[in-house]
Amino acid sequence: MTATRPIDLRSDTVTRPSPAMRRAMAEAEVGDDVLDGDPTTRRLEQRVAELLGKEDALFFPSGTQANQTGIALLTRPGTELVLEANAHLVHYELAGVAANWGVQIRPVTTPDGLLTGDLVRGALRPASPHVPRVGAVAVENTHNAAGGKVMPAAVMAGIVAAAEQGDVRVHLDGARLWNAALALGVPLASLARGAATVMVSFSKGLGCPVGSCLAFAAPDRALAWEIRKRLGGGMRQSGILAAAALYALDCNLSRLAEDHANAKLLADRLSDCAAVRPSDPESNIVMLDLLRAGDTADAVIPKLTRAGVLVVPFGARRLRAVTHLDVSRPDVERAAGVISRVLSG
Ligand SMILES: Cc1ncc(COP(=O)(O)O)c(C=O)c1O
Repeated sequence: MTATRPIDLRSDTVTRPSPAMRRAMAEAEVGDDVLDGDPTTRRLEQRVAELLGKEDALFFPSGTQANQTGIALLTRPGTELVLEANAHLVHYELAGVAANWGVQIRPVTTPDGLLTGDLVRGALRPASPHVPRVGAVAVENTHNAAGGKVMPAAVMAGIVAAAEQGDVRVHLDGARLWNAALALGVPLASLARGAATVMVSFSKGLGCPVGSCLAFAAPDRALAWEIRKRLGGGMRQSGILAAAALYALDCNLSRLAEDHANAKLLADRLSDCAAVRPSDPESNIVMLDLLRAGDTADAVIPKLTRAGVLVVPFGARRLRAVTHLDVSRPDVERAAGVISRVLSG
């Protein structure tokens, strides 16, 4: 381990709440959100609903629980969830939609992680007593496993139109929807249009310790509240956490541009390195494909860690590096140098 602090590019979830965020949390007005409501939490829910162009929202401890609640609202047991084959809901929620809701995943393979209206149309099955019905369609924007790929509003509109033709609703996993809106230079609500349920996370690029919201139409609130409670997600003085999210919406949204610039910088600095091929990042995630025969993610990650740069494996010969609030431009420049030196050594 080097003497200096490691540069942690494993995820944008590793950020620590800043002193100012901690102050906002300490000063939050609170109540009992399960008993009769918490005023700060309610303020956050209303603000997020408005930002997303939805009627209401509910605060959750995690994105996973909010995603699961969204799917529960839109499906019935014995139906299928159509979604891109590498979506978070497919690989990183421990088969939750099957285990929790009796719903079958119907993964659609794409070349680049981008689901489209045509692909959804192809996955919808004609009504038949012999095959499962599609219960809902889920999309992810930005798409984590596709290297932070951004889905433009027009593509989303095509998916919504295809789903409507099949009489099914759409869930949007927008854990990093903030990054997508920034990358496209469009309002958040334009990327959520037509989705019946939308999840957004505060604990990723926005730098909060905890928290996500699920937004929906007003009549869905009562059932969403029940499902959250059943999953153990009812929180009492949740205003302490909601205050961090409100602070982040005020102070950390526009600075996501720095993370996107830093991701591009990392990719640019590594573009000349013969040992690695960086992706062309659209947001704050860079995928690094190892090019030298014999190099594997498992072999190179300990070497990078010893040299002070932390990344995660994303396939046998692929690494993922994520830029965030707690890595500066000089950190990223240093990380690029270390990666280049270690992989070329
Ligand atoms: C795209 C996406 N969706 C959902 C989640 C789940 O969020 P959480 O870790 O808060 O459960 C993540 C977490 O990294 C994610 O990247």
